[in-house]
Amino acid sequence: MKIASIISLAVAVLSLTNAAPIDRRPHSLFGPPAGSYKSHSVALTRNPRFKHNVPAQLAKLNSRFPGVVKVLASSGRVDVTNVENDLEYYGVVSVGTPPQEVKLDFDTGSSDIWFPAVNCTSAACKQHAQYDPSLSSTFQEDGRRWKITYGDQSSASGILGNDIVTVGGISVYQTIGLAQKQSSHFSSSISDGLFGLGFNTIETVPGVKTFLDNAIEAGLLEKPVISVFLPSVRRNGGVGGEYLFGDIDESKFLGELTYVPITKKGYWQIKVEDAGFNDDSIQQSSEGIVDTGTTLIIVSDKAANAIHSKIEGALKDPKNGWTVPCSLSSNTEDNITFTMSGTAFNVPIADLAFEDVGDGSGNCFSGIQGGQEGLWILGDVFIKNNYCVFDQGEARIGIAPLKYD
Ligand SMILES: *[C@@H]1O[C@H](CO)[C@@H](O)[C@H](O)[C@H]1NC(C)=O
Ligand SMILES: *[C@@H]1O[C@H](CO)[C@@H](O)[C@H](O)[C@H]1NC(C)=O
Repeated sequence: MKIASIISLAVAVLSLTNAAPIDRRPHSLFGPPAGSYKSHSVALTRNPRFKHNVPAQLAKLNSRFPGVVKVLASSGRVDVTNVENDLEYYGVVSVGTPPQEVKLDFDTGSSDIWFPAVNCTSAACKQHAQYDPSLSSTFQEDGRRWKITYGDQSSASGILGNDIVTVGGISVYQTIGLAQKQSSHFSSSISDGLFGLGFNTIETVPGVKTFLDNAIEAGLLEKPVISVFLPSVRRNGGVGGEYLFGDIDESKFLGELTYVPITKKGYWQIKVEDAGFNDDSIQQSSEGIVDTGTTLIIVSDKAANAIHSKIEGALKDPKNGWTVPCSLSSNTEDNITFTMSGTAFNVPIADLAFEDVGDGSGNCFSGIQGGQEGLWILGDVFIKNNYCVFDQGEARIGIAPLKYD
């Protein structure tokens, strides 16, 4: 049940101290798994703008039959579905020949691509799409063991394999994690698995290349970037979210992109120079990551205290973490700001009223929580207000305020 699990996540995040490398969970309120999802399923939305991407298909042919077809660099768009008021966003990915579809949570905070395999017997696998390598003529064994464990002890493991992975019309031959075991945390997850978009240095099996590495090397992308538009339910009903591989959609943001250099390749790590309430700085800085796979913004305890001290009615308790009055959702004036490369980016305080705690108090879980010392996480609460271009070619992130139609 969602509220209960949000509470347990809040408690979990409060008890975080210094997990290494970083205590985040792919895809939940405070980072992933799945404990936070309701168990009902959500209908897939077909991408209404999907077009067969001819240049990408030519390029794909070329990479399989070098010299036969001229490579044409291209770009590919994949629509994502907003789950439960911005809790997570997933897209549909095709694997193998003929294609088998899996719903994957695109995650810039990890790098593995994995989903359940047909011979996984864990209960959580049975509740999701299970890829069958024996039905794919392009599957090739790899055989190396693979295992990922997240901060809440949820885990998945199995073997690696190789197959064609297609997203938004861009196809590469990709090393994938076939999950043969999954912890029960994933049972209630709506997505089948993860699509990691971090750097290859944090692949769980060293030496494995990411989808982006492979697409760039094969010359499939016009630009070596992934551009992310994750709209919120509050601002436009949450519709039209997309990941654009290989290009930047100028119609999705206001003004110019500010480029922020990557300080360490692993996560998409950057320097956060300051945070504040409107023009009122809290005079704190930290390394941070821009992480599409984490729902909220998680900062240090000290920064969370300073930010909430500016907000009337904000409270912290051991059970719920930081809460704010739900009435903030109608505030149209004030922002929390995060400064990178000298530019302050806004998160309207309306987005701090994340979700009613459900106890009749009129308080909501805050969209900003503490407990991440030394490495702040700018999750979806940040990204749903700011268009982000993850530029692997130049090792930087371009950021600009999101433009809603
Ligand atoms: C599942 O299938 C893979 C081959 O696709 C095989 O290597 C592995 O041993 C199988 N696992 C189980 C638990 O049967
Ligand atoms: C808060 O952000 C919005 C959107 O960027 C902006 O229009 C508004 O002026 C900001 N408010 C303040 C007080 O700076």
